[in-house]
Amino acid sequence: MYRGGISRGGPESRLPDPHLVDWTAMILRWFHLVTGAAWIGASFYFVWLNNHVRPVDSGDPTRGLAGEVFAIHGGAFYRVSKFGGAPEQLPNVLHWFKWEAYLTWVTGMLLLGVTYWMDARSMMVDPAVRDLSPSTAVGVGAGSLVLGYVVYDVLCRAMSRQPLALAALGAALFTGASYALFALLGARAATMHLGAMIGTIMAANVLFVIIPGQRAMVDAMVAGREPPLERGKAGALRSFHNNYFTLPALFVMVSNHYPVIWSHRYAWLLVVGICVLGGLIRHGFNLAGVGRPRPFVPSIAGAAGLVVLAVVTRAPTPEAATATVNVTAVQQVIAARCLSCHSQTPTQAGFVAPPKGLALDDRATIEANRAKIGAQVSNGAMPLGNLTAMTDDERQLVVNWAAGG
Ligand code: HEC
Repeated sequence: MYRGGISRGGPESRLPDPHLVDWTAMILRWFHLVTGAAWIGASFYFVWLNNHVRPVDSGDPTRGLAGEVFAIHGGAFYRVSKFGGAPEQLPNVLHWFKWEAYLTWVTGMLLLGVTYWMDARSMMVDPAVRDLSPSTAVGVGAGSLVLGYVVYDVLCRAMSRQPLALAALGAALFTGASYALFALLGARAATMHLGAMIGTIMAANVLFVIIPGQRAMVDAMVAGREPPLERGKAGALRSFHNNYFTLPALFVMVSNHYPVIWSHRYAWLLVVGICVLGGLIRHGFNLAGVGRPRPFVPSIAGAAGLVVLAVVTRAPTPEAATATVNVTAVQQVIAARCLSCHSQTPTQAGFVAPPKGLALDDRATIEANRAKIGAQVSNGAMPLGNLTAMTDDERQLVVNWAAGG
């Protein structure tokens, strides 16, 4: 069903066709997931390869090999060799792994643009946080991505010999960035831009350091010079960082669907905390790869940390309402504050169907979704960006009703 949804000539008429916006976002998200899976899959595979190459048998005639791996997959046997340095001769076809990284970033940025920047008024600005103009909010979001990489890059170059200090300083700065974004943007947009910041650093590492380093090594070999190993080393450090960024980046991307995370009072800290735990979980797999004893202790600690966070962030159950809440009053509040979006026929520009299929037009549906409504209204996630200016009293009324009044 397509209803238009644009009030032509009205103040919202600059918004593009919401039907096409939804389709564009869907296709971009799909593409983004596929390229992201290819990128992270290749990254995990090469980490695994590196960790599993074993010295070749002494009788092996091939020269310069550091080790090899035998594997079986999809009904075929594979033998993959790793060179200690550079091979004596370059093969005719050398495979590079970069397009999955670039396309993940490009589709991610387009998706960020379509879902957040183009609809900054409702998706990025939260007047209760700070009443930015939509274009300022977009500037803050985009600026955070550029600044994030520039600061990270400067630190990496200056502190490449102090990896632990670099990690500690990086975590502290990331926490500061999170605090700043949550102080300026709506919580959901702040969270998504933190994820985009990690993703941007990862993709920029590939574009500006890893691939140029490899290119320099190959060029030197072709020219018959000694390959510049320090370029390879700089790339290896960035690859190493990217490896730790994978789990945090994926967490932030999916957390977008969970207001329980980003609408928490201390969401700026919670998001950073979960990212650190994600890095810890990944660390266990890296230790296992190099054959350390009891490698999964950090992973188990990370998983336990998640359970602890789930428990300590639990809000106290609202006091049971003393008086029975008048359902008609609740329905009136919902009609005033929610129906512009959550209706079979939404009037809010940008919506052609009720979000998440939740249409609160009739009392039976409202009753049936009592718990969901209570959760979203009490944690402040709904009304979205409080576009419909719900008052605190109305919010309390709905929460009391949901709590069983
Ligand atoms: C400006 C539009 C808008 C308004 C107004 C609005 N919502 Fe929403 N609502 C959304 C969007 C968009 C989503 C989907 C968010 C997502 O993708 O996670 C949503 C999701 C929800 C969900 C989650 C549904 C699910 O199945 O996960 C609930 C519950 C909800 N809204 C309740 C409300 C209530 C109650 C109000 C009024 C107090 C309200 N909303 C006002 C846009 C709106």
